[in-house]
Amino acid sequence: MSKYAAGIIADLIRRKPDCVLGLATGSTPIGTYRELIRLHKEEGLDFSRVKTFNLDEYLGIGMDLSKPYHLDQSYARFMYEELFKHINIKLENTHIPDGLTKNPEEFCKAYEEEIKKAGGIDLQVLGIGGDGHWGFNEPGSPFTSRTRVEALTKQTIDDNYEAFYKAAGIPKEEMPHYAITMGIGTILEARSAIMLANGAKKADIVAKALEGPVTNEVTASAIQIYKGDITVILDKDAASKLKNL
Ligand code: F6R
Repeated sequence: MSKYAAGIIADLIRRKPDCVLGLATGSTPIGTYRELIRLHKEEGLDFSRVKTFNLDEYLGIGMDLSKPYHLDQSYARFMYEELFKHINIKLENTHIPDGLTKNPEEFCKAYEEEIKKAGGIDLQVLGIGGDGHWGFNEPGSPFTSRTRVEALTKQTIDDNYEAFYKAAGIPKEEMPHYAITMGIGTILEARSAIMLANGAKKADIVAKALEGPVTNEVTASAIQIYKGDITVILDKDAASKLKNL
């Protein structure tokens, strides 16, 4: 999965060295990022002109060194540790919603503007949340939604608790309950996309998103009205509930 996904990203970078990538965090794309690091180190894949925009960030945390308590859990930190510090990308070309912004509304508008100014996203990397979210577009998010602050569902908080907080011993009540996320409308404007999912835990929601009704109760079902090229990359377990394989 990771090799295939990284291959698509690498092909684009070779064809268009100044391409704009939309990136996701979470456990699913880690292997893809490791493969991109390998391609950079062993095959000279050049990120020097690549621009990136991440889908989301928890509100209230970030890479601000004055807030060590939340430091390691930020998506900014995740991107730096899992990808950016290992490749020759210019950090000024990377964009991640600022979880510590004093004015989230203004920030979200400016984020949308930045994406436009960069020429739009050439390739968006997506996972899928247990409740069917893309980015942090929780059930009920309109398909026309743009970058904004979104309240996280209980399921998302439970899903992310282990990955981000168990290790640090932070109680669930103190996890951020809000995030900044690109909207579904923002994501649908990307010229192409890849969606990754693995594991039996994702089988039901993958089947709902790909074969169920198009509904903002499962925001990833927007895939069915997406007009760009999208490649869905699943392992056997995640694909096990699909009827039309
Ligand atoms: C994260 C993001 C989320 C994740 C989703 C799946 O930037 O956009 O939508 O893709 O929550 O997370 P994992 O991969 O940890 O199962």
